[in-house]
Amino acid sequence: MSQPKRYLITAALPYANGLKHIGHLAGAYLPADIYVRYLKAQKRDVVFVCGSDEHGTAIPIQAMKEGTTAQAIIDKYHPIIEQNFKDLGIQFDIYHRTSAPIHHETAQEFFTVLNNNGDLETKDSEQYYDEEAKTFLADRYIKGTCPNCGNENAYGDQCEKCGTALSPDELINPVSTLSGKPPVKKATKHWYLPLNRHEDFLREWIIKEHGNDWRSTVVGQCKSWIDGGLQPRAVTRDLDWGIQVPLPDAKGKVLYVWFDAPIGYISATKQWAIDNNKDWSPYWNDKDTKLVHFIGKDNIVFHCIIFPVMLKLHGNILPANVPANEFMNLEGDKMSTSRNWKLDMQDYIDDFINKENGGSQMADVLRYYLTTIAPETKDSEFTWKGFQDANNSELVSIFGNFVNRAFVLMHKLCGGKVPTYHADLADAADNKLIEDIKAAKETIESLLEQYKFRDALFEVIDLARKGNKYMQDKAPWIVAKQTGEDGNTTESAQKLIDNCLHLCLQLTANLAIFIHPFLPFTAKKMLHLMKVVEKILDWENAGSLKLLSVGYTLRAPELLFRKIEDDEVKAQVEKLQAAAKAKDAEKAQAEASKPVAEKAPAEIKPTIQFDDFAKIDLRVGKIVSAEKVEKADKLLKLQVDLGFETRTIVSGIAMHFKPEEIVGKQVTVVTNLAPRKMRGIESNGMILMAEDASGKLHFVNPDNEVNAGAGVS
Ligand code: MF3
Ligand code: ZN
Repeated sequence: MSQPKRYLITAALPYANGLKHIGHLAGAYLPADIYVRYLKAQKRDVVFVCGSDEHGTAIPIQAMKEGTTAQAIIDKYHPIIEQNFKDLGIQFDIYHRTSAPIHHETAQEFFTVLNNNGDLETKDSEQYYDEEAKTFLADRYIKGTCPNCGNENAYGDQCEKCGTALSPDELINPVSTLSGKPPVKKATKHWYLPLNRHEDFLREWIIKEHGNDWRSTVVGQCKSWIDGGLQPRAVTRDLDWGIQVPLPDAKGKVLYVWFDAPIGYISATKQWAIDNNKDWSPYWNDKDTKLVHFIGKDNIVFHCIIFPVMLKLHGNILPANVPANEFMNLEGDKMSTSRNWKLDMQDYIDDFINKENGGSQMADVLRYYLTTIAPETKDSEFTWKGFQDANNSELVSIFGNFVNRAFVLMHKLCGGKVPTYHADLADAADNKLIEDIKAAKETIESLLEQYKFRDALFEVIDLARKGNKYMQDKAPWIVAKQTGEDGNTTESAQKLIDNCLHLCLQLTANLAIFIHPFLPFTAKKMLHLMKVVEKILDWENAGSLKLLSVGYTLRAPELLFRKIEDDEVKAQVEKLQAAAKAKDAEKAQAEASKPVAEKAPAEIKPTIQFDDFAKIDLRVGKIVSAEKVEKADKLLKLQVDLGFETRTIVSGIAMHFKPEEIVGKQVTVVTNLAPRKMRGIESNGMILMAEDASGKLHFVNPDNEVNAGAGVS
């Protein structure tokens, strides 16, 4: 395949509404950075854009939480996030902002072109309105139950549990997050992008043209969207934070954030061009540009369906690929900002980079582990133990160890200089190593071109592993013991040592080139040890065995990586658990201190007929004995007198009552519930309980003592 003339690489613009965690990093920014560093090492013409997404309701919502203004929020988080990326070696050509005037103009122009060409529709509709807050409700301000997975905290634009994109109308039992009340419908006018007009184009382009070269997870999601039938999507909102709709009859309306944000890639390119005296236009208009969007899976529909339709209508190029990642979990649970179950980039930087001298190496350790567990084909999992293992048994023991031994032995056995290679003495093992280096170049290159970063990195480590084995088999420290009468290593033995270390050093230089896109700080440190300039990292040098000149003096060895100790891992796991616990407590406190009227209204189950209810046999019973169930924190085993018989019932109330407290209590029992075994004990019925706002349980019982077995209806 012929090479594109230039590349425009984007990574999803993060909302500047808070710190970003390593799930974000692994999902979009790190793979994009690896790809870009590789392309730049290939001396391709590449621009890598990113920046803050500063509109949408995420920003004013955060402002409300922090008791400040939307502007203050973006001004606070934009520079922090930008610096976090820098500290972790993510090297954008520009980190722009959607609040910049050039972006507002670009987005408005985009809207105007589509509107003037008749590519938008307007519609008067009824939208959710909060009567108490006197405002139309943006999708994000409405919460309710997801029709797809039943998650009760789904937002009006998306369910974060199952990833489904939603519209507020699809939510079951919608509630305004501003007042906690159910919203009402009110008439308003909006502009829509009629996606339904573009189904054929999308099917052709995504499924026919890219069905085989895009990730199957991405194509699959798009296909199910298209098959489900595309609807017109509103691209304007009634909101006071965002980009004004550039029309006289649209006062108080702004562009929908998902309309303006991706255009941010274009405005960022424009700003980059201004800063660098370049022309931005070919990057978005010339067919010879390869546009690649790096995103997480929750952004697929916007980057594969909506934005491409916008680009096509506006006359721009379309993405060549959208290598979206699945999600990364953390220590057995989904990463979540609201539950505080996450590792923020900032926290990692504080604990591992800023605290240590030369801590940038630790940035590479994170980059390494995140790449080895990249969720490229399915969800994956970050564990601190895994992090420690990846560092200690791969970076330290394989890669770092090889480089260190090559340097130590070269100083000890070759006078600190790159030794000569005696080609006439080369044996099968030498030739095999040379072949392996050359083959690695092709394999790594091809994997990177296919966005298979985790496999590509595996190949780099595997090459270091081969280097270790080669060195171990050659054992130059033993060969050095072949001494002559003068006590010195014989000349023929020295030649064998020289050959071995010559190859090990050339391999080290190659490893620097290969590791550079993944671990840029490590590559830099290797350059320092080898006393060579950055130019050597050009990809065309990979596979060469002439990277270091014979006789050149190299620096003394320095370790590339340090070991990670058990107590560091333990401390991180404890910190994670403590933070999540603190958040839970904070939430419980907030909920408990709310006046009853403000509490989230309980969801009412669908209506049933009297016959359904009549099937339930309810009776009053009396607890005659209670004991804890072994190895089950929550369970009590009860004997309940029902008048006509005494039954065993296992109940999940052990956290709320001591066994001795409840003996003699009257309770309401569902007596005809199918028996169920819990911890090996058969339970024959269920006790009804009421849960108060603090989560405490209470028995439901008659106000006066009645005979055991009395029916309840
Ligand atoms: N801010 C969005 C998110 O974090 C991503 C925006 S990507 C862009 O999910 F294309 F719209 F810029
Ligand atoms: Zn859902």
